[in-house]
Order: sequence, then C-alpha cells, then structure tokens
Amino acid sequence: MTIIKKKPEARGPIRRARSTPPTLSAADRQRFRRRLLDWYRRNGRDLPWRRTTDPYRILVSEVMLQQTQVDRVLPKYEEWLGKYPTLEALAAAAEDDVTETWRPLGYNIRPRRLHAIARESVARYGGSLPADESTLRSFKGIGEYTAGAVLSFAFGQRAAILDTNVARVLFRVFVGRGSPKTHAMKRTLWDLSRAVLPQRHVFDFNQALMDFGATLCVARKPKCLICPMRPSCAAYPFNPENERA
Ligand code: ADE
Repeated sequence: MTIIKKKPEARGPIRRARSTPPTLSAADRQRFRRRLLDWYRRNGRDLPWRRTTDPYRILVSEVMLQQTQVDRVLPKYEEWLGKYPTLEALAAAAEDDVTETWRPLGYNIRPRRLHAIARESVARYGGSLPADESTLRSFKGIGEYTAGAVLSFAFGQRAAILDTNVARVLFRVFVGRGSPKTHAMKRTLWDLSRAVLPQRHVFDFNQALMDFGATLCVARKPKCLICPMRPSCAAYPFNPENERA
C-alpha cells in the first residue's frame, strides 16, 4: 500500500499573535483606582509641577522629564521658570540663550522645540496653550503623551497618559505576559490607560500612575512584596523573564 502524503495546506502569511486587550469590569477598574490613589496619598512625591495647573509650567516639566531624572530636573525647572516665567518671555528670548540655559540637561532638540512652541503660541494663540488634543498635537514636539499630560494636569480633562513607567505598571498589572514593547501592545496599553482613568481626580490619578512606576513598580527590582496591586497583579510574582518572552 502506498501512502500518499498530503501536501500541507498553504497557510498564508505568518501572523504575529495579536495582543488581546484584557477586558476590565467596572469592579476591576474601581479596585485599581482605589488602590493607586490610596497608595499615592501615602507615598506620592511632593514635586513643584504638582502644585500648579499653569499649562506652560506643566509643559516645561513634562518636556524636561522626558529624558531626564526628577532630581536633575528640579533645579533646572526653577531656574528656567525664573528666567522665562511665561510663554511670552520664552518666545522673546534668543535661541542661543534658551539652549544655553538648558545645557546641563543635555544639548538636544528639546529646548529648541519648547522655544518654537512658545513662539507659535504667541503668534497664533495669544500666548496661551490650546486646550484641545488635536491643536496641541499640531505643535512639533507635543506628541500623544505630552498632550495627555497637559490636558489632564493643566486643563483637568479626562485625558490618558502613557510613558515608559505607566506602560510598565499597566502591562504588569493587567497583561502580565508577552512583550510590552510591540506596537500592538502599546495600543492595548493606551486603551488600558483610558479604561482605568477615573471621572474625577484625573490630575492625582495620572501623577500617581507615574510615581507608582517610578518608585515602586520599577523596571529592575519592583517592590512586589509591599505592592497594593499584588493580590490581583497579572505579573505577580514578578519575573523579569516575562519582559523578554
Ligand atoms: N515623568 C514624567 N512626568 C512626570 C511627572 N509629572 N512627575 C514625575 N515624573 C514624571
């Protein structure tokens, strides 16, 4: 008897596994918010940009914090605002002066972007920052994250944020496995950030997410044993291999 081996059927292009966004019940969302805000009330850092809702000050802090640690930003934030207290003052400064003031934070594109934003805001918006996402994002240098930060911190809007720290927290708590770095996962994490956002206390909630990622749910040695999310964290016990799988 001859066995005729069937040719395997063509399978079409190999598809990457899609990240399935976890569905969160109202109770899941509520529990996460309550635990995070309770933690923040006890452990949140008192930082100068948390004592203002001035859009310009928020923007300066967020741009400075994009690639620089909080302790290096603190003195520069005060110096910068002493020198350029408003968007008008920054717009009126010479570019060389602005980049020089920024210098110890790293000579790069950020001060020039801030300067250009100030000039555009004076030229087109009377020296203020617009309070809607699409106009904010039309400025070079204001991306999805910075727009969310300005809208939630300065304008009290229900806008989500996602930076590296926030992505790590949401990934660990709600997803747990796989890679947090794929494009699909980033979209999932943005969806999660929007899903967990409360109706009120958005300022504190978003600041809390950042602090939680920066001080407790840190990249290398997260403090899982004292973590308030532990009972329902998808990544607990934290295993660094998860991030590489
Ligand atoms: N990193 C980015 N934004 C931040 C903020 N508002 N507070 C602390 N760290 C941050």
